[in-house]
Amino acid sequence: MSESISTIKKNSSYTVTIESLAFGGKGIARLQDFVIFVRDALPGQQLRIKIIRKKKQYAEAIIEDILCQSPHYIQPPCPYFQDCGGCILQNLEYSKQLSFKEQQVREIFAHLGRLNPIILPTKRAPEIWGYRNKMEFSAGTDRWYMKENDPGTPRDFAIGLHAPRRFDKILDLEACLLQDDERNQILQFIRNSIKALDLPLYNAKTHEGYLRNIVIRKGYHTGEIMVNFVTRDESPERLFPLVDSLLENFPNVTTIVNNINNTLGMVAFGKKEILLAGSGIIHDRLGDISYEISANSFFQTNTKGAEQLYRVIEDFVTLTGKETVWDLYCGTGSIALYLSQKTKEVFGFEVISDAISNARRNAEKNHITNCHFFEANLDKFFKKNVSLIQSLPTPDIVIVDPPRAGLHPDMLKELITLAFQKIIYVSCNPSTQARDCAAFVAQGYILEKVQPVDMFPHTAHIESVTLLKKA
Ligand SMILES: C[S@@+](CC[C@H](N)C(=O)[O-])C[C@H]1O[C@@H](n2cnc3c(N)ncnc32)[C@H](O)[C@@H]1O
Repeated sequence: MSESISTIKKNSSYTVTIESLAFGGKGIARLQDFVIFVRDALPGQQLRIKIIRKKKQYAEAIIEDILCQSPHYIQPPCPYFQDCGGCILQNLEYSKQLSFKEQQVREIFAHLGRLNPIILPTKRAPEIWGYRNKMEFSAGTDRWYMKENDPGTPRDFAIGLHAPRRFDKILDLEACLLQDDERNQILQFIRNSIKALDLPLYNAKTHEGYLRNIVIRKGYHTGEIMVNFVTRDESPERLFPLVDSLLENFPNVTTIVNNINNTLGMVAFGKKEILLAGSGIIHDRLGDISYEISANSFFQTNTKGAEQLYRVIEDFVTLTGKETVWDLYCGTGSIALYLSQKTKEVFGFEVISDAISNARRNAEKNHITNCHFFEANLDKFFKKNVSLIQSLPTPDIVIVDPPRAGLHPDMLKELITLAFQKIIYVSCNPSTQARDCAAFVAQGYILEKVQPVDMFPHTAHIESVTLLKKA
């Protein structure tokens, strides 16, 4: 169909073929050269679409009809696919998810960074289902349902995941494919017990009710399972029968806790924690480093995926045992600790004080003495602490793993001025990564390669690692 930009109108329908996938998961179509992002569309589909928003440079559309299915389409394995909004790419062959993620990284670096580096093929995730070691389920009295497929079961009981963009509505789930079978059985058991015990669920609109969340965590390498019941008020005796039956039926459940969250905030943890069984801690490993994980401590949510990411970093840094490494935005220090046995020393910097305490404790528990952690707001830290920075051994390698927004302009400027030889940039947002890499390249760095890593199959997330060297 031949359309000019001026004739493309909001609420009008058009026939298009989806060419590729944009970062974020929308399908990309073109009418002449005008770009249209189509929600829930797959490359290769021929579609009747309706324009819902038109901007100067592009438009957004929804699918009205699938005229011809994509050759890469597969039947989505999850029965909640249509309603959940979680794993939006699960109806696309996994090998194609990987190649489209590689293509997205290539296009982002070309368009936003004006860079054309070597982009390696996306690393396949070690496990493509059941890969999350932690799932937070919500409990509530407001079940989300689609009018056309509502089976008519009670609407005031739901245990599952929040409906897309809805704080109040919960999609009732019997299982989630992002956690393994054992934890799905536990979830199912808890659901039945809650019904049998008639435990009141939380109402997000009135802030009444009792049970708010059920968080299930599993140590991938140890098999230890923690269940955390997050409740609005403190009456743990209501949970005692459930605790007893869980321990009796699931020997791998080694600890059960009750977090109290009486705030309006929809967070699955509380300031107060009541220990109901076990020690309140489970263990897991990343490489050879073991971690103690409590209900509220941060730990990478995909153990095998994180190990793969760290192997990529290790491969990029090529350590001989003599190097000094700086780990900027180090979180709980897991990259620093992972590399510590292969290098001389590592200095980690991070803004969250609890994360730094955690990193130090993890170092101590693993008898690691060559990692040093600093609580630091890296937006200004280097500028304000010149003498401290100068007193540290000059790093042979600097690893940066900033949040989605990328490096703060001041931090970027400092790093460029300090002109370190080798910078490994780890990111969950290739757009800001490309922007920052372009700034390094403009100041004489060579962007040697980019490695996209798929840590969260079937979602639009991309992790990528770049290697920058001073020319
Ligand atoms: C993507 S995470 C890095 C995680 C870590 N490298 C790991 O593997 O566990 C980004 C980290 O940057 C920290 N952060 C965000 N803004 C910061 C800032 N201005 N200064 C220092 N750290 C910051 C966050 O608290 C978070 O721990």
